[in-house]
Amino acid sequence: MAEQEQAELKDTNQIESDVDQTTKSTQKKTKDKVTPVAASTAATTDVPDGSGQNNNARSTESVQSLLKKIVLAEQASVANNSRSAPKSDEEAASRQEWKFWHTQPVPSIGTRVTSENNGPVEPNKLLEELKAEPYKLPDGFIWDDVDILEDEQLKELYVLLNENYVEDDDNMFRFDYSMPFLRWALCAPGWIRKWHVALRVTKSRKMVGFISAVPIKMKVYDKEVQMVEINFLCVHKKLRLKRMAPVLIKEITRRVNLEGIFQAVYTAGVVLPGIVGKCRYWHRSLNVKKLIAVKFSYLGRNMTLQRMQKLYRLPEETHVKGFRVMRESDVPQAFALLTQYLKQFDLSPVFTQEEFEYLCQNRSNIVSSFVVEQEDGEITDFISYYHLSSTIMSHPQYKTLNACYMYYYAASRTPLPDLVNDCLIHAHNNDVDVFNALDVMDNKEFLEKLKFGVGDGNLQYYIYNWKCPQMNPEKVALLLQ
Ligand SMILES: CC(C)(COP(=O)(O)OP(=O)(O)OC[C@H]1O[C@@H](n2cnc3c(N)ncnc32)[C@H](O)[C@@H]1OP(=O)(O)O)[C@@H](O)C(=O)NCCC(=O)NCCS
Repeated sequence: MAEQEQAELKDTNQIESDVDQTTKSTQKKTKDKVTPVAASTAATTDVPDGSGQNNNARSTESVQSLLKKIVLAEQASVANNSRSAPKSDEEAASRQEWKFWHTQPVPSIGTRVTSENNGPVEPNKLLEELKAEPYKLPDGFIWDDVDILEDEQLKELYVLLNENYVEDDDNMFRFDYSMPFLRWALCAPGWIRKWHVALRVTKSRKMVGFISAVPIKMKVYDKEVQMVEINFLCVHKKLRLKRMAPVLIKEITRRVNLEGIFQAVYTAGVVLPGIVGKCRYWHRSLNVKKLIAVKFSYLGRNMTLQRMQKLYRLPEETHVKGFRVMRESDVPQAFALLTQYLKQFDLSPVFTQEEFEYLCQNRSNIVSSFVVEQEDGEITDFISYYHLSSTIMSHPQYKTLNACYMYYYAASRTPLPDLVNDCLIHAHNNDVDVFNALDVMDNKEFLEKLKFGVGDGNLQYYIYNWKCPQMNPEKVALLLQ
């Protein structure tokens, strides 16, 4: 193991000086990041016709169906701004060496796992088998536990992610997680400071890497397992391709193992060994003019801005009777609805009421959640979305893309498309530019119907130290921020 660690770290000896020498230029670059970038790859026309069952009706091609075609073509041209852009497909991935991942307890690419096999790759280790000391870092770097409750430290993490976290394939947009959002996501019930792991330059104490874990109980097929969710893996741009990511992953694994947990769930836009589910982002334009201006979406052939605006126009008022913002007193009923709903999926969290309340209650600019209250006071439906902006890296006028993402829901009486439509109206009234959703859970019921356009990348779900058959997106009901 020691040899392997040394090999992982061999390339990194020059890193400290690299970072010190490049810090100045990075800052400068960040300041004047308003440089033009090449236009994103545009649309595919390979879109379903939206109706699925309605092919016969198309023989009498009415104005309406033509309009629908145009909408779908437009939808298809929505550029993908998600963490989902895959760098390689599975076939290419199967030819890759996986120098790090092949040393980890995850099934290799292409391994077929049968349904009887739903369990750990390797058994839990005893405490005395675990490495007590942190993994060795190259000279000039130290580990640090970030105190997310301290504004100064949270700010450092914010800056690291704001300048170095996930970008789209064309480097036009980068996630801009706000400080309150990060505090919310990282301090979920049961969080511990040791699992907010930063990599710093010893001399300057500059934060140049990060990885986090928070506890989560998961149902995988018929088994409930205490795990952690891993998120916010980030290495400073000047430290890329120097094998820092494997060290961060091994260190968080060690710290999680020390607490008696041996499984972790995580998502990535890139294809890695051990895919459990492969999902796709869809996007619903709300502010058409801005999305086109910043090249998030494109005007298709024969389309004008005015026509496109008309196509995506939404009413100002929500229309489901009894649809309103969720209150604290709704929590027990909404929690019961969600708990019941989540049971049918193959990959879903098992929340306590406390976790549900923490994750799904309304928080300004973080989470918006709604319920439908019937006349007798019964809560029959619950729906939520979270807010996550992206920095627009190269536009003279617009600096921020206001996006939100479909989060948890449970509809027992109201048709899901009606609920989501009210969310779209709400989001639009609150200045959101684009509404994103994965094709997980029952989302296919509303995606095409509500004029979401398919994105061009996938989001893969993984479970560390677990093997099970791969599942379809509609069997996945886990949403990580
Ligand atoms: C993801 C990131 C930390 C990887 O670091 P890097 O400097 O590119 O790669 P390193 O040289 O340190 O490590 C390479 C190893 O990490 C793996 N890796 C790359 N991205 C990964 C990811 N998102 N999750 C897990 N492992 C990943 C590679 O497959 C490779 O392992 P292999 O030898 O088995 O193929 C870095 O690119 C980054 O910060 N990107 C922006 C933020 C981001 O995309 N975070 C991940 C969100 S899911």
